[in-house]
Amino acid sequence: MSNQPRHIAIIMDGNGRWATAQGKSRTYGHERGAETVRAITTYCARHSDIDRLSLYAFSTENWKRPKIEVEFLMKLLERYLKSECSTYLEGNIRFEPIGDLSLFSKSLRKIINDVQNATANCNGLVQSLALNYGSRDEIVRAINALRNEESITEESLSNALDCTHDIDLLIRTGGDHRLSNFLLWQAAYAELFFTDTLWPEFTADELETIIKKFKTVERRFGGLN
Ligand code: IPE
Ligand code: IPE
Ligand code: MG
Repeated sequence: MSNQPRHIAIIMDGNGRWATAQGKSRTYGHERGAETVRAITTYCARHSDIDRLSLYAFSTENWKRPKIEVEFLMKLLERYLKSECSTYLEGNIRFEPIGDLSLFSKSLRKIINDVQNATANCNGLVQSLALNYGSRDEIVRAINALRNEESITEESLSNALDCTHDIDLLIRTGGDHRLSNFLLWQAAYAELFFTDTLWPEFTADELETIIKKFKTVERRFGGLN
């Protein structure tokens, strides 16, 4: 069986530090980070053996940041989705948000919904953006949705999550070695890769190098090979 990562998840970290190191404001880092999102999504869309790319864009904890940064991120997201709709369609990419969208403004929810509907029939890569996403929040919402069931199984809980797909390869940029509440359930048997590269400097070449390393790993899932 070939060891191809069909579902790649990325914790896109390091925008702020990258910008600060250039003497620029943190928001400039987010702006450049959005360009990396486009480049990495396009790379994955061109590789038909990658089915799904899940990207951590805004966590349930990121609301703690200064209001000005949060507002900038909301505007950037809106602008990005508006301008990228054609990229999704050209690349046959389906956009699927995960997270609790109810806390976003009406206009942001509308654009999220519009892009999701516009790309609903795309059957290439699925790009899943984690927006106001926290793994604990996702699990609690799933358990609440199942609370009238007689019993909850791994399968029923898994199917009630926003993201119902196990991760093969999980990458975090920015040098820290933690999951920060991202897809904890789905990462149960993911291969974890950490790179010091800050997200605005992460490239398709580096992703390719990581995928090559991934392919050499023996995944045992608790068994013996
Ligand atoms: C990741 O970059 C993007 C978001 C969390 C929105 P950061 O903004 O966390 O950048 P650093 O980690 O402070 O450098
Ligand atoms: C994780 O990065 C969240 C996103 C990439 C959206 P953070 O910068 O928020 O994580 P911590 O605070 O360093 O754990
Ligand atoms: Mg960070």
